[in-house]
Amino acid sequence: MTTRKKTAKAKSKAAAKKVVKLKRKKPAAKTAASNGHPRPSSRPWGQAGRALEGVKILDFTHVQSGPTCTQLLAYMGADVIKVERPGIGDITRGQLRDVKGADSLYFTMLNGSKRSITIDSKHAKGKEILDRLVKKCDVLVENFAPGALDRMGLTWEHIHQLNPRMIVASVKGFGPGPYEDCKVYENVAQCAGGSASTTGFRDGPPLVTGAQIGDSGTGLHLALGIVSALYQRIRTGRGQKVLCAMQDGVLNLARVKLRDQQRLAHGPLTEYSQFGEGIPFGKATPRAGNDSGGGQPGWILKCKGWESDPDAYIYFITQAPVWGAICDVIGKPEWKTDPDYATPPARLPRLRTIFDTIEQWTKTMTKFEVMEICNKHDIPVGPILSMKEIAEEPSLRATGTVVEVDHPGRGKYLTVGNPIKLSDSPADVRRSPLLGEHTEEILRKVLGYSEKEVAGIKLSGAITAPDKPAKAEAA
Ligand code: COA
Repeated sequence: MTTRKKTAKAKSKAAAKKVVKLKRKKPAAKTAASNGHPRPSSRPWGQAGRALEGVKILDFTHVQSGPTCTQLLAYMGADVIKVERPGIGDITRGQLRDVKGADSLYFTMLNGSKRSITIDSKHAKGKEILDRLVKKCDVLVENFAPGALDRMGLTWEHIHQLNPRMIVASVKGFGPGPYEDCKVYENVAQCAGGSASTTGFRDGPPLVTGAQIGDSGTGLHLALGIVSALYQRIRTGRGQKVLCAMQDGVLNLARVKLRDQQRLAHGPLTEYSQFGEGIPFGKATPRAGNDSGGGQPGWILKCKGWESDPDAYIYFITQAPVWGAICDVIGKPEWKTDPDYATPPARLPRLRTIFDTIEQWTKTMTKFEVMEICNKHDIPVGPILSMKEIAEEPSLRATGTVVEVDHPGRGKYLTVGNPIKLSDSPADVRRSPLLGEHTEEILRKVLGYSEKEVAGIKLSGAITAPDKPAKAEAA
């Protein structure tokens, strides 16, 4: 190789090095870590913004199912703009009122951390405002009766023409099928989703549960659907429809009973106390009282004071690995070796005797004393806590699961905070908005209407109540 060639090669090597050097410099920029991912924020816990910050929700929900969903999204940091009918608002504002003239707890506990705008969605100007909101928001959530959103002119086609990124999320009572046009409330869903037929005692009628698995349960499902759709939109750039039928949501929560339905084809359900009592099974999963839904038998047992205190009970699980400890604690050490009691299959036909015997022991102590003793031995038990006890429980306040907020119309009230704890996104639980409290703020700051335009909108009647508003007060 000539010197010239050598020099040229060295030069080009040096140049290549320079390029490499330059290329290497790039990742040093503050936005990306060496693995190509954005650098983790160095800001302290909770100060890097909340999980859904920047997400705008056009909240067309009412009553319980939809508002449960949007309240959770608000706790996660989304800007939830609740659209309500002028002068009336969400019907629950006036339902089950405890303080005259103030928004009910039904409403305030389901609409925290949201903003409220009043818009008559059937008014021409109201429709124009809604169209602007559709363009600005990421998700529209609604739980109107089937067809109501379309009747407002907010069809999927119309929404997507305005904003192809918009996710449209709905709760309906039923999915496509014979009942799709039906209006549905909580207990209808509990009945149609398989919960009621499997809840209660064998010799009594079907029962609905206190937990609102039809409404709040479906709201939870919908929130997961929305967050998933937002995630998929990062790749596709496209919004999609999210539908949660209340019947489906309840069935999802009652899936162990569909499991048992299929097991019935292969013989009796041996963990049901009905089996031990020698009562034959029918064709469908029966009601199982307080039997545990899993493989470890359990029952609700009386504790000291049960005669006067309706909640002096404890749930007691005879978990197999701690059977020896249970026998010792209740004073039946001989059961550890007795072939009738020593193994789980031997115990199944004797569950009633076993729980009656354990109850003789639990009745001598308060539920908290039973809990203390059992916990020492890893025996799984749970006190039946009243809502009063839950409201006063300091640990639930400390974790933000029960939160006290102040409301201008009703003073201080308790609400349930975010049950989902994100280590870098602490929930911001704020009081519910008054009807239309943020109407002008949203018109100006979110939708960009000028002062003059806002004045015109006010005169148009699109955001104000008619002269004689319909009464919101309900039973
Ligand atoms: N401006 C003008 N009109 C409005 C409005 C607004 N801002 N917001 C709602 N409305 C209208 C709707 O357009 C609808 O009118 P339309 O029937 O003439 O089209 C009307 O108010 C009532 O809506 P609807 O959903 O039918 O309310 P409802 O009180 O009769 O029924 C439910 C309540 C809950 C039974 C029903 O909404 C439903 O089945 N929802 C789906 C299932 C569900 O979520 N159930 C659980 C509730 S917790």
